[in-house]
Formats: sequence, C-alpha cells, structure tokens
Amino acid sequence: AAPEAAHAARGLVSPCAPFGLAANMPKDNMQVENMDEADFMTLGRWLMGNTKDMELTILMAQLGLACKATSRACAKAGIANLFGMAGDQNSSGDDQKKLDVLSNDIFISALVNSGACSVLVSEENEEPIIVPAEKAGRFCVAFDPLDGSSNIDCNVSTGTIFAVYEKTTPGIGTTADILRTGNDIVAAGYCMYGAATELVICFKGSGVERFALDPSLGEFIHTHTNVQFPEGGGKKIYSCNEGNSPNWDLPILDYINWCKENQYAARYVGSMVSDVHRTILYGGIFVYPADKKSPNGKLRVLYEGFPMALICETAGGIASTGMFKGSVQRMLDLVPTNIHERCPVILGSPRDVNMVLERYRS
Ligand code: AHG
Ligand code: MN
Ligand code: MN
Repeated sequence: AAPEAAHAARGLVSPCAPFGLAANMPKDNMQVENMDEADFMTLGRWLMGNTKDMELTILMAQLGLACKATSRACAKAGIANLFGMAGDQNSSGDDQKKLDVLSNDIFISALVNSGACSVLVSEENEEPIIVPAEKAGRFCVAFDPLDGSSNIDCNVSTGTIFAVYEKTTPGIGTTADILRTGNDIVAAGYCMYGAATELVICFKGSGVERFALDPSLGEFIHTHTNVQFPEGGGKKIYSCNEGNSPNWDLPILDYINWCKENQYAARYVGSMVSDVHRTILYGGIFVYPADKKSPNGKLRVLYEGFPMALICETAGGIASTGMFKGSVQRMLDLVPTNIHERCPVILGSPRDVNMVLERYRS
C-alpha cells in the first residue's frame, strides 16, 4: 500500500501530522495493524510524524533507548549478577538495588547527552541534576528509573515512570523549572518490564499510545492508539496494599468493604506501573491512600503521581489525591514544593473513583 494509506490504516493523520492532531485518530483502543512485515511504525517514526518537534522527538527517543537498555538489564539480571543490593540508600532512605542504580545511570546518561534536557529529577538522586549549558535543551524530566523495587529479585514485573516539562525561563535550568503543577506537563509515560516490554506515552492534549518492544528488531512498535478505559468502568477490580488498612480513613475503608460486598476481585502486583497498566486496560481502581502512619501517602508526586494522573485522565479516568491536607484534590492540580514530595493516589475508572469521592463528600 502507499505510505499514506498505510498511515491512514494506523489512524495517523499523515506522515507529518502536526503535534496535537491526534483528535483525528480512531477512537476506542484501536489496535493498529502491524501485520505488515515490510513496514514498521517504530517509536521514532511515530514521534517524528506526530510531534513535528525535533527536540521533543529526540528527547522521547532517548527515553525509549533508556527503557530498552533497562529492559535488557532486567532480562539478563540473573545471568549478569544484577540481582541484589547495591549497598546504598536513595533520596527517600530506601535501600538501593543494583538494578535501581544501573537503570538510574542509564536514564541519566541518555537524558544528559540528548541535548534536549536542562533539569533532571530522579527518585534515586537527592538533588536535581542540572545539565551543563553546552548540553542543555528545552525540557526537564522527572523519572523513577525502576519502579517496583520489591519485585526486582523475584522476576515480577517492574517499570519506569517519567514526566516531561518544557522550560519556561531562559538560561541554565533551576529546580523551579520542574517544581510546577501537573497541569504544565507536556508529556508523560511509563514502560513496563513484564512478560513483554511495553511503552505507554501520552502528550498533553493528545491520546495515550501503546508501543511494544520487538526484541528481535530492538525497536518499540506502535500497537494501540488513543487508549481509553473500558466503557462503563470495565472489570470490577480493586488494587491496594490492604496491609495498610488499619491506618486508612473511613471513606477508603468503607469503599474497599463495599467492593468486597459487590463481587470485586482484589489484584495487587505491588509495582505501580503494572497495577496502573492493568487498571487502564481492564478497568477498576488503584489506591495508595494517605493513612495515619503516612499522612502524605507513599508515592511521589513528580515521578509517580503526576505522570500516571495525566495518562489516566487522558484515557478517560480520574486521578485524585483523596483526602489530603484537608481537602480532596485533583492530583494534577497539586503544586509540589519539594522534588521528592509524596501524595496519596486514587485513580481509575470514573465509575469507581467517583464512589470514593462521594464518600468523602458525604
Ligand atoms: P519504588 O520501587 O520506585 O520505590 O516504588 C514502589 C512503589 C510502587 O511501585 C508501588 O505501587 C508501591 O511502591 C508498593 O508499595 P507497598 O510495598 O507499600 O505496597
Ligand atoms: Mn516507584
Ligand atoms: Mn524506583
């Protein structure tokens, strides 16, 4: 088929569709046709065709490269002696695993050398990384290089989460360039290192796009466009660490009890990427609420809460903090004042999240 027809079949506007024209894409989790053995819609090609922004394309391609390198490290960890502890602690005082450290090095190297970044915030680095002027670019990235650390050593799926901001001030980057409301994020994504390696990205004002890593090609291939939560809320699933329930507030306790009385299934991997990915694809709700012991919850605003909130909302879901500092807030409206700040997370299909929010209202 002519390239234009092949593009149309994939739901792309044209090989050079301007950034933001994803409205023309097919709706409803459309599986793109990747049957053609001679024509590959790789991540790079998709980015160039859809963003029309060379620097953003370079940045996202470097994030893709770092995800592939991390995927490879996870896959060969048993053979390459990459399981186990690194012997250090990260910004939050968590013990670092070897793979936490290696994946962090991979992302930092890819981003600093991309020429497209000015400020990096990583879960594994106490302080932000300011890119020297000669390598600096338009964007700032907050990332969790390896999410789901507790699952690393037993070969359960882990992931990477990232949020991209565009710098607003000239000159060398500062922390202020990244300590901004979630509404300022221009792109977010996560990569899941599961049975398959899958990259999910979302540009603000556009759709959620899925790419699967073809290991033999070493390329992410576009598989699904404009991903949406299942209509009506999907499968009845609740996902949380119920071991924390003695410390939850009443609305959360009451809602989870309601789930049990209403034929909901419990599913909890303990890797946010996997739990959120399943929630978007199958439906239901994921919660890591505030509790008496952790009044700010556990998950981090900049590189866990915000990117997942943007992806969730773009897929037609809701992302809230639940009760947090005296009010129930839309997650993306938060304005962090510390790069490693935490927030409670309640996200999922409107059917389910609204039931939690109603309990807070009454
Ligand atoms: P990280 O491995 O980056 O520190 O994050 C782990 C997070 C997240 O992936 C998951 O949802 C949550 O911690 C699990 O926490 P519990 O072990 O407390 O359930
Ligand atoms: Mn994490
Ligand atoms: Mn992590």
